Amino acid sequence: MASHDLTRLPLAGLTETAWLSPITADDVEAVFRICQDPDIQRWTTLPSPYRHSDAVGFAADLQPQAWADLAAGHWSGAISSVGLSWGIRRSGPGTGTGLCGVIGLKWIREEVWEIGWWLDPAARGRGLMTAAARAVLEAAFDPAGPLRASQVLWRAGVGNQASRAVAQRSGFHYLGLEPDRSADQVPLWRAALTAGQPIRPVVPWPIPQPSTRTSAQAEADPARQ
Ligand SMILES: CC(C)(COP(=O)(O)OP(=O)(O)OC[C@H]1O[C@@H](n2cnc3c(N)ncnc32)[C@H](O)[C@@H]1OP(=O)(O)O)[C@@H](O)C(=O)NCCC(=O)NCCS
Repeated sequence: MASHDLTRLPLAGLTETAWLSPITADDVEAVFRICQDPDIQRWTTLPSPYRHSDAVGFAADLQPQAWADLAAGHWSGAISSVGLSWGIRRSGPGTGTGLCGVIGLKWIREEVWEIGWWLDPAARGRGLMTAAARAVLEAAFDPAGPLRASQVLWRAGVGNQASRAVAQRSGFHYLGLEPDRSADQVPLWRAALTAGQPIRPVVPWPIPQPSTRTSAQAEADPARQ
């Protein structure tokens, strides 16, 4: 299998041209702006409030360092601690770097990564994140590539149906609940995709797919129904 160029991953199955490429210092302002979104602050582990210095640290310092280390072929503290993040980019007039979201792989342990993602609210509902997840997963499992994952994990706060939909469409298999160790104490849905499993929708998922948070909360804590 030909190795994927991790610095330019085209997104398939969309009605628009979009691709993934590493986060750079040019993305600082877009990252800062998009990360003010309340849903991103609610559902991700990003700092909240999200400050300009957070965007600078992420886009201008940590990510360029991690990508430079990967290009140089040495496993670094940067890759282990911050992982690798791609910008989700669309072409079009007036879009600057075209950044409308981020998808990342965080290193957990040898051959195991955890995937995470967020999108500009204005870019949601177009299938961009599912296409991005599939591209990243193919690259992560590429036996000729540098990441050589044997498993990719996904975790989300119980009730995050938008993220659940992306994970389900990308081939993740639901594993169960785990306690959240953050201040919020919202339990987490946990799912995984293992090398060799198809990167395509998994139907059904064993968790309920409620239209309100009520049944998700009930699953997390049945005693409180
Ligand atoms: C997760 C995220 C990237 C998904 O973006 P997206 O793929 O464009 O998708 P949408 O937000 O439009 O929603 C995805 C699907 O979930 C569905 N969905 C969203 N909220 C839902 C809810 N409360 N109940 C049921 N379904 C829901 C949508 O209807 C959509 O399905 P459809 O295409 O069949 O209509 C985006 O919502 C986001 O950035 N959220 C904030 C950050 C975040 O949660 N990150 C993940 C942390 S684990």
